[in-house]
Amino acid sequence: MNALPFFVNIKNVFTAGGTGGLAWHLHAAMSRERWLWTRTQIETHLFKGLELYCAQSAAQRDESKGKGKGKGERELVLIGASAGWMMSTRWLEEFTSIDAYDIDPLSPLLFKLNHAKALAKKGIEIRFHLLDAIDQLSRVLSKHPNALIWFDNVLGQHHIRLKDSALASTQLKILQRRLKGRFWGSVHDLYSGPVQRANDSKSGENVRGKLPMTLKVIRLDNSDQNSARVKVNGVETSLGQARQQFLQTLGATPAGQAWLDHETSKVFPTGTPLTWAGWDFKPNYCHCLEMGWTLD
Ligand SMILES: C[S@@+](CC[C@H](N)C(=O)[O-])C[C@H]1O[C@@H](n2cnc3c(N)ncnc32)[C@H](O)[C@@H]1O
Repeated sequence: MNALPFFVNIKNVFTAGGTGGLAWHLHAAMSRERWLWTRTQIETHLFKGLELYCAQSAAQRDESKGKGKGKGERELVLIGASAGWMMSTRWLEEFTSIDAYDIDPLSPLLFKLNHAKALAKKGIEIRFHLLDAIDQLSRVLSKHPNALIWFDNVLGQHHIRLKDSALASTQLKILQRRLKGRFWGSVHDLYSGPVQRANDSKSGENVRGKLPMTLKVIRLDNSDQNSARVKVNGVETSLGQARQQFLQTLGATPAGQAWLDHETSKVFPTGTPLTWAGWDFKPNYCHCLEMGWTLD
């Protein structure tokens, strides 16, 4: 399925509206080692989601007296798949078919280089679709009514592509309504900005192991950015406070004022268990990723 006009495809090869393309592929290919810690966090989270999904499917099977979908028919929809630089091949191998959506024409070729050999060995079918899957989400959902949906580090770039933070924030807030009744998850940028770490070597390797680079977060209400109440590792505080403390832990100076807000703090319904994780995107530039799963 290629639903994008020719000239848009050409532009997307280079930057995908500032969200991917050649620049992303080159940076990702050269950053594999620095990103390893974060990739492992994402993999852990992906397997946790699969466990929840299987438990839910088993419960549905019981309800419909064994007529539900068996393990033999596990479908995945991957939105913003790119070349799967941050994706776990082991996790992909848990599915019987994969539908990968991206606006970047380079995505199919490079994704295959990274994952196809292992998937082919297991006979897993992967289909690529060149489509704006956020704009066309309803169409994607109805095409794959039984699939698990994973937004693969794409929602945090939506405001960059739209070049309109307010519009992106509104569209992302209503995404959860369009996904109602589906089992879905996402990893996305929450904040990003410059870091300076004491005792830091060039890569940040020395301090990474010692810092609590992940947090368990649950948003308790939908009030605005700073005043919203959240539980962080079981303790109630404000989102503003949690954000400031976590960014300082990552090495933001002095309190993360220069950091970019990716307009994603309301992507998940309130009450969704979330994980925040640091991502050393470049030597002195870090992202705070948010990951979650929901069946709401
Ligand atoms: C940061 S990259 C994703 C990285 C990817 N998950 C990986 O591990 O390599 C964001 C990707 O989302 C794609 N993208 C951006 N907006 C999109 C949309 N509306 N629909 C589908 N793909 C989109 C970009 O082309 C880019 O490949």
